[in-house]
Amino acid sequence: MKDLIKRLTEAYGPSGAEEQIREIIRAEVEPYASEVTVDTLGNLVCKVKPLSPPEGAEPKRIMVAAHMDEIGVMVSYVDDKGFIRFSTVGGLNPYVLMGQKVVFANGTVGVFGAERIEDIKDLKFDKMFIDIGATSREEALAKVSIGDVAAMKREFSDLDNRVTCKAMDDRIGCAVIIEAMKRAKPQVHEVYWVFTVQEELGLRGARVGAYSVNPHVGIAVDVTGWGDTPECTPFNVVLGGGAAVKAKDSSLIAHPRLKRLMVDVAEREGIKYQLEVLERGGTDAGAMQLTREGVPAGTISIPCRYVHTPCEMVDIGDVEACVSLLAAVVDELASPSGGGIL
Ligand code: CO
Ligand code: ZN
Repeated sequence: MKDLIKRLTEAYGPSGAEEQIREIIRAEVEPYASEVTVDTLGNLVCKVKPLSPPEGAEPKRIMVAAHMDEIGVMVSYVDDKGFIRFSTVGGLNPYVLMGQKVVFANGTVGVFGAERIEDIKDLKFDKMFIDIGATSREEALAKVSIGDVAAMKREFSDLDNRVTCKAMDDRIGCAVIIEAMKRAKPQVHEVYWVFTVQEELGLRGARVGAYSVNPHVGIAVDVTGWGDTPECTPFNVVLGGGAAVKAKDSSLIAHPRLKRLMVDVAEREGIKYQLEVLERGGTDAGAMQLTREGVPAGTISIPCRYVHTPCEMVDIGDVEACVSLLAAVVDELASPSGGGIL
């Protein structure tokens, strides 16, 4: 699984430019899906048909989503000397960018620089630029155009029980749903495994993805924060504590019966889990829940340290717990009982 995580996290795919990561995921999931489609915004939708439809009824639709986009920066202006000003794509912090490299879709690499400032607190995005080694505007524009998007450039590192790379948010969620898709045994209902676009810009891919799939229940798999490093904000989720079952974040209150099902399945199967209330941040479940007449939705979260930096870190035991929990919950939902929800 570490090999899959390495390939997914190192791949290029900032919001709105998901083609490369989508092709990598497509190759991975195609053997397990009954039908693979890409919608207008670029979501990769993998439908898995049930072994047999429920007796005398149409199968219901279960949607599982993880976003394949990552945060990045977009070229907004190039000056006479070839320095690039940028617009942020997703939630970034200027301090985090200094000292980092970025890479564009065509392989062009740049580093961040900043104007002279008196105090580090004055470091703002509009004082910063990207240097791609060009000496003129013409030279820069031969490599990149206004509107091109770059992602962080950072290699995967295996720290034994833990792994770190850029874009764990949410390639680790993609890895979890790919593995769960391989393990799940759909019985009477359909499962749609959806790799969404543009989550980092406000759950945009999931919004249209959920409209077209029209699910009867939705589960998002995404990273959450951590509460176990020195002097950090008190938070009920720790690395190594297992899969996090979300109760609330700024995008949703988990549907009570779905949250209950996740907890019951974890307890029955002996899967390590922890309950999560996240003050800030949302997931694709927020968009799924508010689709059409409303959809029961919830989230399984992977505890992740240093979210939205190039050094996001997860625990392999937690990742395994998330795969086991997701596969078991989907099996329950796809069974004739519908997990008591369908
Ligand atoms: Co994010
Ligand atoms: Zn995310």
